[in-house]
Amino acid sequence: MIPFVDLKAQYQTIKQDIREAIDEVLESQHFVLGPQVKAFEQEFAAYTRSAHAIGVNTGTSALHLALLAAGIGPGDEVITVPFTFVASVAAIVYTGARPVLVDIDPLSYTIDPARIESAITPRTRAILPVHLYGQSADMDPIVDIARRHGLLVVEDAAQAHGAEYKGRRAGSIGDLGCFSFYPGKNLGAYGEGGAVTTNNADFAHTVHMLRDWGAETKYNHILKGYNFRLEEIQAAVLRVKLRHIEVWTEARRAHARRYSALLAATSVVTPHEMDYARHVYHVYAIRANDRGNLQDSLNAAGVSTGIHYPIPVHLLPAHADLGYTAGDFPHSERAADEVLSLPMYSELSDGQLQTVSDAVLLAVSQGTVASGTGV
Ligand SMILES: Cc1ncc(COP(=O)(O)O)c(C=O)c1O
Repeated sequence: MIPFVDLKAQYQTIKQDIREAIDEVLESQHFVLGPQVKAFEQEFAAYTRSAHAIGVNTGTSALHLALLAAGIGPGDEVITVPFTFVASVAAIVYTGARPVLVDIDPLSYTIDPARIESAITPRTRAILPVHLYGQSADMDPIVDIARRHGLLVVEDAAQAHGAEYKGRRAGSIGDLGCFSFYPGKNLGAYGEGGAVTTNNADFAHTVHMLRDWGAETKYNHILKGYNFRLEEIQAAVLRVKLRHIEVWTEARRAHARRYSALLAATSVVTPHEMDYARHVYHVYAIRANDRGNLQDSLNAAGVSTGIHYPIPVHLLPAHADLGYTAGDFPHSERAADEVLSLPMYSELSDGQLQTVSDAVLLAVSQGTVASGTGV
């Protein structure tokens, strides 16, 4: 079986360094918000080309605190997309604000800037673009709309470590950026983790306080805060991995090119890399009308796949109270029906890439897959 993600393969390449890094934390007996977190924050800020990075316990918390630092609260509206992981929307709900959804551009799978302005109301405070699959949203028009309407931009860069938009790094383009270090992410901890990035010192200061009970100094609680602290062991692991991420990212990009070349002659639609983007291929998603049969065929051929995501957020029972219905966001709904994520990790061998592609080609030639949706 070719796994969808193979964390063991990556671990084998960094095992010694990881064990030494964790051992150093054990010897220090300093487990939460210590020197490893501080060093990681500096290194991750440099990596994202942001002035500040603040480590937190999850990507969800990063979104939650970034929105709070941006001043979002009850009565406000935040614009985002339904074709994303549920956390992008849930974090808005946590603040008491209302998520207002707009459809995606079907080529990039990210927010369609042309649909944003008609969603703006006097209550709108921020736009939250999601850099889905590792490709940046079209940030220039988004930031332009935000500036003209006095809105903030909070980037959901949970899948976009090292992704670029016109040479600028994801997480450094809007007012605040939010990253997840969930284990399977391009930069993954050995447990949970996240970070907020920003070039704004005031926002950074607020996030610093909010992640640790709103305290400015010990026991001096200025804000109603949270326990969203990053652990030293996770920061130590992330520091080791950060040294490799550029090589790993280039490997992902090379694998994506290889998949796309091998699948070029088929009717399935391969990812479209936008002219402005350095796509980091957290997910390599193809699309086909007959996605279910394709997934079954691949499974029978020993190829594990994923679906990111099968139900757009506006059709999830958890968010039915937003009041949207089927048909409201046709591009998101069609993408949710058709996307299929192929195995993607830097350690994939050429033989594995070939095996996966052959399995797709075979399924297509056997007619199990109707032609993909051209967009
Ligand atoms: C787009 C997106 N936003 C937010 C999150 C939330 O991150 P976490 O799982 O670290 O809370 C994730 C990851 O799962 C994600 O993919």
